Amino acid sequence: MLRDALIYLSGSKNARRFVTNAPGARSTARRFVAGETVEDGVAATRKLNQSGMKVTLDYLGESVNNRDEARQAADVYLQMIDRITAEKLDANVSLKLTQMGQDIDEGFLRENVGRILDRARAVDMFVRFDMEASTHTQKTLDFFRSLWADGYRNVGVVIQSYLRRSQGDIEQLNADKVRVRLCKGAYKEPESVAFQARGDVDASYVRLMQMLLEHGNYPGIATHDPAMIRATREFAKAKDIDPSRYEFQMLYGVRRDLQQQLVRDGYRMRVYVPFGEAWYPYLMRRMAERPANLLFVVNSVLRESPFRVFMGRER
Ligand code: FDA
Repeated sequence: MLRDALIYLSGSKNARRFVTNAPGARSTARRFVAGETVEDGVAATRKLNQSGMKVTLDYLGESVNNRDEARQAADVYLQMIDRITAEKLDANVSLKLTQMGQDIDEGFLRENVGRILDRARAVDMFVRFDMEASTHTQKTLDFFRSLWADGYRNVGVVIQSYLRRSQGDIEQLNADKVRVRLCKGAYKEPESVAFQARGDVDASYVRLMQMLLEHGNYPGIATHDPAMIRATREFAKAKDIDPSRYEFQMLYGVRRDLQQQLVRDGYRMRVYVPFGEAWYPYLMRRMAERPANLLFVVNSVLRESPFRVFMGRER
């Protein structure tokens, strides 16, 4: 119920205006978002690299319906690629196709994403297309396929284990040796397309992880769930799959203890580092995943709001 409400609010313009203007909201978002500028993203990347973690850098934004905005977002990605290269950081980039004009027109999308892929290819950098709601799954895979057919190999996609179709998608992607990130899925989806019970999503995750580890190409196992991580480690061990053939991935600010532990245990860990001003829907999805995050945000906002006197925190 709460998850559904938060995911619903992540798309609400009024809720967005209210939350982003709330005192303290911006500073609270900093727990999950590296900051607002490219330099903030680069600084967080440098720090994570120093602690033995790789990064995928994400400029926040989605559902863009304005060409100038989409073009500007692509320009920011070019800057990110240049800064990562100049600083010799161990990082690649992740982007959302709806930020690049997927909902505007395909030719325009192609132009924007083409600029990013060309710049990244010139410096041998990988670009990941995040996966959004199921209304965009087929479009995203079709668009990816067209780029693949045109010879781009520095690009990969995300598959969500809650979708019923994912096994078929992974079979095809594995056949082409496409790099896949596996996650559970962060959107509200109808029963017709997605498993609803946690146990079913988890069982699907384990099945897909095994397919990727055995037959895929350097998969990203994206999860904070200790049970999924354990299943991955055990399967890799049983099949004698070296830890250099896959990587774990987690979100910035989430389960930092587990991130460090995996590095200490000799596994590859990539942290997804988002930055930018459009943090509202991203933050709402993170709260939907874990209600304790909501308490953290509400507490922080109240602490800095005019109501703080009622909380006995006024000094
Ligand atoms: P699950 O939600 O079952 O959580 C297991 C445990 O992890 C929780 O009990 C808690 O301890 C911890 N945890 C999980 N989320 C937390 C949070 N937000 N804050 C604090 N603790 C938390 N989704 C998508 O639809 N498309 C995409 O492209 C991506 N990309 C992506 C990249 C990376 C690197 C990651 C890690 C995740 C994504 N996701 C995503 C999000 C993903 O689909 C999923 O919503 C979250 O990862 C939460 O699922 P878990 O696998 O962590 O398990």
